[in-house]
Amino acid sequence: MCTLHQIDRERAEAFSGKLLNVLNHGALALMTSIGHRAGLFDVMSALPPSTSAEIAAAARLNERYVREWLGAVTAGGIVEIHPNGREPRFSLPAAHAAFLTRRAGADNFGVFAQYIGLLGCVEDQVLECFQKGGGVPYSEYRRFHEVMAEDSGQSVLSSLFDVILPLVPGLPRRLEEGIEVLDIGCGVGRALNLMARTYPRSRFTGCDLSPEAIAAARAGSAEYGLRNVHFEVRDLTSFDRDAPDARYDLITAFDAVHDQARPDRVLKGVCRALKADGVFLMQDIAASSRMEENLDHPLGTLLYSISTMHCMTVSLAQGGMGLGTMWGRELAQELLREAGFREIEIHRLPHDLQNEYYVVRKGSR
Ligand SMILES: C[S@@+](CC[C@H](N)C(=O)[O-])C[C@H]1O[C@@H](n2cnc3c(N)ncnc32)[C@H](O)[C@@H]1O
Repeated sequence: MCTLHQIDRERAEAFSGKLLNVLNHGALALMTSIGHRAGLFDVMSALPPSTSAEIAAAARLNERYVREWLGAVTAGGIVEIHPNGREPRFSLPAAHAAFLTRRAGADNFGVFAQYIGLLGCVEDQVLECFQKGGGVPYSEYRRFHEVMAEDSGQSVLSSLFDVILPLVPGLPRRLEEGIEVLDIGCGVGRALNLMARTYPRSRFTGCDLSPEAIAAARAGSAEYGLRNVHFEVRDLTSFDRDAPDARYDLITAFDAVHDQARPDRVLKGVCRALKADGVFLMQDIAASSRMEENLDHPLGTLLYSISTMHCMTVSLAQGGMGLGTMWGRELAQELLREAGFREIEIHRLPHDLQNEYYVVRKGSR
């Protein structure tokens, strides 16, 4: 039988091993982000086992940095080493490339790894908030809209026409015929520009707090010469009061409700702006509102961390509610009902581990 002393020692040793993994895996996430951004995984996936000089030349990068990076990702089990005297060769197994290259599409984990470096940049400001309260504004996150666009490129764009829009029966047909659509918190507007190109008879409006994101969205629509899409810089904090009455047939929100200053008022505005038979299509995080039910969540640690370092704090920076990334489906439904919605369906889609898709209607009153 084990003594208490022995049990504690075993537990302590196991825990210190876990912490060692945390350090190695944290560092590996940063190296994964570098590998994605520098195009190293894409280049390596097309090369036979190669030396660091060959890989650097193919990627047009500095050999010394590539060699050191190879040390990290080889020790981390992403890349394989083929000993060859003083000039080892390295390869990216096809089974790993399937989750790390741009060709992997929605399965590319390199996109998500970028959040680690992105969030690390605001560590000092967030730490100050731990001491003084308040929040860190969007403007402090240098690459946020760029990374977010890549993220939603995977979860939304990859499946928009095949899976997401058909969640609402008859919606693709109505979009073809011509309806009024609003996307709230549209970011750089890639989803809306793509819909506007695909459905020229419908009219699309995108709004977002960020002038930088809206400038990118307008540039995107200009590039395609779109005349049926319009983007505006708009703070949705008082949308409950300033939303137009019954103007839209479809309102979408892709990962854009929980980090608003006032999700409650935004949802009230959405209800007001929808026509009586209109639909609100909301993508938001798949989680419970109860922390103890999220302990086995496959992305729990990552999402609570993203919340601490971004979603909660950007809302608090606007004097908002700071609901956080993991506000959960129970609170989401409560706020939707309070906003005036009566019919709420929640869908899970196989390509998207992170989100749920809400199809919401006013219903009969
Ligand atoms: C997580 S991003 C999602 C962006 C985009 N929908 C996508 O999927 O790529 C949330 C967006 O909400 C916007 N946002 C945050 N607070 C806002 C507010 N008070 N009014 C309007 N937009 C806001 C942010 O600027 C950001 O672009």
